[in-house]
Amino acid sequence: MSESTAHHYLESHSPGHGLAQPRAAFTSDAPVLDLTGTWRFRLAAGLAQVTEGFEADAFDDSGWDTIAVPSCWQMDGLPGEPRFGTPTYTNQIYPFPIDPPHVPDTNPTGEYRREFTLPAPWPAGRTLLRFEGVDSCFAVWLNGTLLGDGKGSRLPTEFDVTDTLRADGPNTLAVRVHQWSAASYLEDQDMWWLSGIFRPVALLSRPDGALTDVFVHADYDHLTGHGTLWVHSTGAPARLTVPELGITDADPAGPHTVAGVTPWSAEQPRLYEAELVTDGERIPLRIGFRRIGVQDGLILANGRPVLFRGVNRHEWNPDTGRTLSHEDMLADVLLMKRHNINAVRTSHYPPDSAFLELCDEYGLWVIDECDLETHGFGLIGWAGNPSDDPRWRESFLDRMRRMVERDKNHPSVVMWSLGNEAGHGSNLRAMAEWTRERDPERLIHYEGDDNCDYVDVYSQMYTDHNGLGVIGRGHESVTRDPAQDARRRTMPFILCEYAHAMGNGPGGLSEYQDLFESYPRLHGGFVWEWIDHGIRRLTPDGREHFAYGGDFGEPVHDDNFVCDGLVFADRTPSPGLTEYKKAVEPVRITVDPAGGTIRVRSHLHTIDTAHLRFRWTVEDQGRLQGDGELAVPPVAAGAATELTWPEALTKLCDAPLEEGEERWVTVSAELAEDEPWAPAGHEIAWSQAAIAGPAPEAPPLGSPLTPLLADGTYALGPAVFDAVTGTLLRLGGDLDVDGPRLDLWRAPTDNDLRTWGGPLAEAWRNAGLDRLEHRAVRVRPHDGGLDVTVRTAPAGADYAMRTVFRWAADAEDPGLLRLSLTTEPVGTWPCPLPRIGIRLALPQDIETVDWFGLGPGEAYSDTTAAVRVGRFTAGVDDLQTPYVLPQENGNRRQVRHARLTGGQGSGLAVTASPHLDLTVRRWTSEDLDQARHTTDLRPRDRVYVNLDAGQQGIGSGACGPATQPQHELIARPVTLTIGFRPC
Ligand code: GAL
Repeated sequence: MSESTAHHYLESHSPGHGLAQPRAAFTSDAPVLDLTGTWRFRLAAGLAQVTEGFEADAFDDSGWDTIAVPSCWQMDGLPGEPRFGTPTYTNQIYPFPIDPPHVPDTNPTGEYRREFTLPAPWPAGRTLLRFEGVDSCFAVWLNGTLLGDGKGSRLPTEFDVTDTLRADGPNTLAVRVHQWSAASYLEDQDMWWLSGIFRPVALLSRPDGALTDVFVHADYDHLTGHGTLWVHSTGAPARLTVPELGITDADPAGPHTVAGVTPWSAEQPRLYEAELVTDGERIPLRIGFRRIGVQDGLILANGRPVLFRGVNRHEWNPDTGRTLSHEDMLADVLLMKRHNINAVRTSHYPPDSAFLELCDEYGLWVIDECDLETHGFGLIGWAGNPSDDPRWRESFLDRMRRMVERDKNHPSVVMWSLGNEAGHGSNLRAMAEWTRERDPERLIHYEGDDNCDYVDVYSQMYTDHNGLGVIGRGHESVTRDPAQDARRRTMPFILCEYAHAMGNGPGGLSEYQDLFESYPRLHGGFVWEWIDHGIRRLTPDGREHFAYGGDFGEPVHDDNFVCDGLVFADRTPSPGLTEYKKAVEPVRITVDPAGGTIRVRSHLHTIDTAHLRFRWTVEDQGRLQGDGELAVPPVAAGAATELTWPEALTKLCDAPLEEGEERWVTVSAELAEDEPWAPAGHEIAWSQAAIAGPAPEAPPLGSPLTPLLADGTYALGPAVFDAVTGTLLRLGGDLDVDGPRLDLWRAPTDNDLRTWGGPLAEAWRNAGLDRLEHRAVRVRPHDGGLDVTVRTAPAGADYAMRTVFRWAADAEDPGLLRLSLTTEPVGTWPCPLPRIGIRLALPQDIETVDWFGLGPGEAYSDTTAAVRVGRFTAGVDDLQTPYVLPQENGNRRQVRHARLTGGQGSGLAVTASPHLDLTVRRWTSEDLDQARHTTDLRPRDRVYVNLDAGQQGIGSGACGPATQPQHELIARPVTLTIGFRPC
């Protein structure tokens, strides 16, 4: 575009024109006219195609489309066909040439119009038109008059419309929104590019005698228990009332010192209702007293070190994109609270204000992050990065100002973050300096400031376990600028992102938590990330799935990297969330059968354990034998206690146990009473201990049978085998079985596919693990049974696995077929193996699996915290986890017994000595590997069963550390003992 056009603002470094001063988000009894609803809409392909004169009152828009405000226009029409353009997903790369501040001529431009009439009476005074969020740049006209233009998609923008507004008669509002603008260079967050008026719009009366702004300061002194309140308001003179604190009609500036206030914290989000009154309006306030700061290298909240059990939250809804309902926001907060999460980083922009209100109310520590990321410059060596270009300074400062001013009254906000992945530069320093001056009562965060020149907290992302331990001990390498080293070495540390939750995983959460809980300098971390940004779509035949990058034909995109949340796009918790809940449980219980004690250690910050009720259960082989309550005197935050077992528990544990059975004690802590975020009985923490078991080796067979050869098969007890290949064909007369075969393959997980430092899945495919050949070396009947020796190897390789299947049956136990399998590597395998085990196929009418082992959820060696020993039942379909990109899932670990049964036909019972991993599915690993979306998976006419000695761990290598060495599955000799029995 030429500089001389009327749309110069679009490609200008300026944050906008004609804007009102930023101020706090507050409500008042002054009238508000909600302008959300249905607007007229037209989408132009770019500036050359915009509608001249569309802002005029008289413009006839009757032929235009309509659209919901707020909404993201690319989401309109979904899950069917989008009506206005399509979503685009990129992570780092800009989807347009790097040519700042210019953008391409093809620049989807939404033109919006609506009429409104002011309700009567509308007070004398000023009126503001407030947009809570418009992506990415817009110009506004009221009654044909240009009010100005704005940028900063996830920030509020206000225009003073007093002189343009018609008190009676219709008003016409016209807004032109551009998908791409100079601001797009500052908004390169890893997410869908979506456009439009995507947060609410309203007209706010600011009557004569109204406030301009308000800044609540509510400090808490933990040494005295005193709260100090002073409220700085501008505009008309105001009076302050806080009934509970005996403050009535007082000068807001105080300061008001009050003895014995209850401080605000994530665990006890105490808010005091207050009111500011001026001649023109009444403003309700919710005041939380608290103090956050760094002292002696520790982050203290109300005088005590705080440990963040956090998540990074983007705003997402699979149908509406970044337009969220109140229910969506509440659902997020409740799910977080129910999963022991106590902190949120609002990656990577300030959320809808309503979300912060919920954080204040329900209790979550918040790092409020500015709407800023210039990551795409990283791909060109940070050349021309706006963060260090003075022409952008005002825009950077404007963004920070608008966030801080809007959110400064939320007690939940304890840190301001300058943004994400915007490199280095003086503009970032300027943001920090302005913020420190404006609000010295909060901490400043920016992960990119690796020297910690101008931040208060040392922060990294995706540091591996070793590196974290090194930092915990203060042994990290020196800063880039050695002059800063001594300072940074004394600073508290957080992992602002870790444990990338993409697909199956993340693995290694418990090990991270151990480190966080071991080193005082480490103040916890924020899992990347909260929610998958999948978009709900329908296949042509109407089946639902979630779309990701590339599904809308984007020429440049980053696939399913946009789906890496602890909850699926529809907010169904994934196994990763369950694992996180357990890994970060704020109360640790240790059950010690030898000493007959139970230890309870609190990692709570503020409150004692009086809100918890402790219970114990005893189960024999998963059958409840007894339960009871445990009287645990309240344990203070950070303290521990040890109890001896109650008599009833000891008695049950001493009772005789059936031969071969296991006895387990479980102790759990649950809410004693309803909390606003979960009902009484909601489990917070638990622990298990074995009293006896697991079962020892399988007993020897009484009278082993000899195989009988007939018609090219061997009959052995309940089983029939192919005499040439040694393959099991049938069990118990009518159970058709294919296999079993040695299986080393799994459908790669996202972490296998994208492993930092070289995808593991690529190593696996290069090694030929996805194309194994089997050769029956020998089928040998003998007195004790049938031995089948098989060599398994990929084409072109000289390494192999040599497996001996030793089949046996027992005349004294006619239903039993026992397999003793040994497999061992021949030669050197070039990489760890996905799995070592066997796979077989059963008839498709198998529907249900009952098992005794770990459950109820899926687990892998490094994602095992959340599962417990017990007896579980699930339908075959319910055993699958619908990761957006189909991949290995659904493994049940340490299964001792399982029964696979169906509607009509016979089923199969499996007994392992001592245990094995089990997956059951209606498709093969190869099908899972091929599928791109969940709807590509079609049930076959068999049910596939994997029985494994183990699998490679999960890790979080898609962005972060790969599987830790102790969870790698190196090719090694393995023995499995499995009993099969038709049932
Ligand atoms: C980080 C980034 C996030 C996200 C994540 C990977 O580097 O800050 O926005 O891209 O990686 O999913």
